[in-house]
Amino acid sequence: MYRSQRLALRYFAAAITLFGVMTAAGLLSALYYVDSSLLYNVFDFQMAKILHINTLVIWLLMGFIGAVYWFLPRELGREVVGIWLAEVLFWIFCAAVAVVAVVFIFVQYGSSDQFSMWFINQGRKYVEAPRWAAVGIVAVVLTFVYNVTATAWRARRMTGILWVLILDLVPLSVLYLDAFPQITNMSHDLYWWWWLVHMWVEGTWEVLIGCLMAWSLMELMGTSRRIVEAWLYIEVMMVLGTGILGLGHHYFWIGTPQYWLGIGGFFSALEPLPLLGMVVHAVYDAGTHHMKTTNRPAFYWVLAEAFGNFIGAGVWGFMMTLPQINLYSHGTQWTVSHGHFAFWGAYGCGVIAIIYLVLQQTRKAQNFDSRAWKWSFALLNLGLVGMVGGLLVAGITQAIYERAQGGSTLQAFVVASENQWFQSGMYARVIFGLLFAIGYLVLVYDLLVIGKRAAVAQRTQEASA
Ligand code: HEM
Ligand code: HEM
Ligand SMILES: [Fe+2]
Repeated sequence: MYRSQRLALRYFAAAITLFGVMTAAGLLSALYYVDSSLLYNVFDFQMAKILHINTLVIWLLMGFIGAVYWFLPRELGREVVGIWLAEVLFWIFCAAVAVVAVVFIFVQYGSSDQFSMWFINQGRKYVEAPRWAAVGIVAVVLTFVYNVTATAWRARRMTGILWVLILDLVPLSVLYLDAFPQITNMSHDLYWWWWLVHMWVEGTWEVLIGCLMAWSLMELMGTSRRIVEAWLYIEVMMVLGTGILGLGHHYFWIGTPQYWLGIGGFFSALEPLPLLGMVVHAVYDAGTHHMKTTNRPAFYWVLAEAFGNFIGAGVWGFMMTLPQINLYSHGTQWTVSHGHFAFWGAYGCGVIAIIYLVLQQTRKAQNFDSRAWKWSFALLNLGLVGMVGGLLVAGITQAIYERAQGGSTLQAFVVASENQWFQSGMYARVIFGLLFAIGYLVLVYDLLVIGKRAAVAQRTQEASA
């Protein structure tokens, strides 16, 4: 095993740990909606939510980085250049995340000054980490980009997937700088902040997961490189062709010029097409190989990724992407429903798939299967889909009673929040969230033990033969 691949395993362990913190913080956030006096003046909803969505971003990024460190040396047949630097930075990264989490939990917030920005909270949703930590993340990502490009350079060899990946890493890291400017005008601030959030999840991250799924399909089913690369080029062109101007669907109501209504509505409405393409691709590959694989968990999680990406991001996003509908759905639990479905479908499932794929190789198990993975697959996905359903009901209730009928007044907000459909949605989120959390625990158990017994049995059999 290359050193880079051992580093990948460490990244996966960190990612799964943070996935747990995210789940706990999500459950806590959900409880405030059913008991609004929860932990009053001790730990506020906003901090629980900040912890939830920041650990979300970090565990997914760690999963992606780990996946690249895993696939890269295989792709080029050599150790990653500058791997020692990446190894050192991994520990600094983990320490920084821990310090930030402790500050979020115990210090929570400060007065509105430079000190708070540097040491407590930078204040941009999803990337709230204080500035010192944000600078650290830039260092980690720059090292990562250096590792990847320098390795390809030294190997004097490039593959199609690697080209796409390297070209994608440039905007992916540059966009993060969008977490930094200090802008006091709220419209301007949101205008630039959306470049980060939208262009990440609907542009650069989609391309990155496309590359990772291409490698995964090749390993899992032996799909030919020619086929996955051809699909990848088409998907990338379509993702960027629709996603870049699709940015406009966040510019409807923040004080930007009116032409964004048309541009945003039109281009973002086309965004589901490449995601549908990915489903067709995955199903086509699975079909041509008669659903045969020696790694069922990874295979099922890849399929979940393809469908989850299309339904959660594509269909759920499409539902509220036209300005005529977004006028009513904007910023309700409907948005939260889509956010959960999309992040989970497109990225959560993808990272889990890759971890299963990798574990089969490290544990040297020929047939990688267990009963536990099925339980965790079912519980996690049932929990998530149940939550998403509850939130959709709650969100549509808000859109009708608070927005369409109530005219968005404070009184209308209260009326919608007391509506029994809204309330049931909030309870449903807690109940399905608990199922999700149990699924997480089973996942951790399975990742720790799957394949181990089979591999030992196999080795003793070989030894006695
Ligand atoms: C136990 C499971 C989970 C529970 C109970 C939960 C609960 C919550 C709650 C209560 C919020 C705040 C919503 C608001 O501001 O009104 C939230 C936000 C969010 N969660 Fe979760 N969550 C869970 C799992 C997940 C997962 C698995 C993901 C993605 C992979 C995720 C992604 C997000 C995102 C992106 C937001 C921000 C959404 C927005 O503000 O529009 N959550 N979650
Ligand atoms: C994997 C891809 C995607 C992810 C992870 C994702 C995630 C999210 C999240 C978390 C939000 C809430 C942002 C916030 O206010 O904090 C959001 C908003 C939104 N998304 Fe997506 N999304 C994806 C793809 C799409 C697609 C393909 C479409 C359209 C077809 C779409 C349409 C929208 C719209 C219209 C909003 C704004 C909702 C509002 O006005 O409140 N999304 N998305
Ligand atoms: Fe977007």
